[in-house]
Amino acid sequence: MMVPTPDRPGVGVFIACSLDGFIARPDGAIDWLLAQHAAAPPGEDFGYARFMAGVDALVMGRKTFDSVLGFDPWPYAGKPVHVMTRQRHFAVPPARQAEARLRHEAPGALLAALAAEGVRRVYLDGGELIQAFLREDLVDELTVTTVPVLIGQGRRLWGPLPADQAWALEAVRHWDCGFVQTTHRRQRTDQPRTTSPA
Ligand SMILES: NC(=O)c1ccc[n+]([C@@H]2O[C@H](COP(=O)([O-])OP(=O)(O)OC[C@H]3O[C@@H](n4cnc5c(N)ncnc54)[C@H](OP(=O)(O)O)[C@@H]3O)[C@@H](O)[C@H]2O)c1
Repeated sequence: MMVPTPDRPGVGVFIACSLDGFIARPDGAIDWLLAQHAAAPPGEDFGYARFMAGVDALVMGRKTFDSVLGFDPWPYAGKPVHVMTRQRHFAVPPARQAEARLRHEAPGALLAALAAEGVRRVYLDGGELIQAFLREDLVDELTVTTVPVLIGQGRRLWGPLPADQAWALEAVRHWDCGFVQTTHRRQRTDQPRTTSPA
């Protein structure tokens, strides 16, 4: 589990992508993911509930927020949702104003503000947003569930980075339906990969 520091919450990603690295089609559709999920064992949540239980808030891109607005029931009950947008005219629909709050800070400033608000672990969601946080090296844990389909084009999970980043493998799980899930933890230079014997 991602570890908070005094300056910012721990940041974790829990996301599904196609074999070719897309989280949605170009128009945002995730029909291919829902079709794959339909082949999964009934009741299998691929560790989602456990991951959710470990976070106290969500930070999501405005486009992901748009796509979850219609979900009924609201999937994040009890967890504040912070929606990042650069638009000043965008507003949270009245039905979701109790659950979601717009944030206009840059990633680092938002995390500092959340730490000051007492948030210790956040679930970061949305491809563009994950890329933005990765560019600033602000992600601590990555759980990616790869589903066995190529969709050829779409919205990417991964993007350019200013420098390489080393990640330590924490766990690999796979299911008969063909899903493969990896969890990686960011390996920073001040965190040795293994503890040396004394
Ligand atoms: N496969 C999965 O598990 C999964 C998970 C989540 C989402 N999805 C799908 O992915 C799609 C959405 O992902 P996406 O990558 O297209 O977009 P996204 O990351 O959800 O949202 C992008 C938007 O977030 C805001 N944003 C991004 N970086 C920002 C920054 N540094 N500062 C402030 N605001 C920033 C901007 O909003 P403004 O344009 O308002 O300024 C930007 O347009 C949806 O179709 C959703 O269904 C799939």
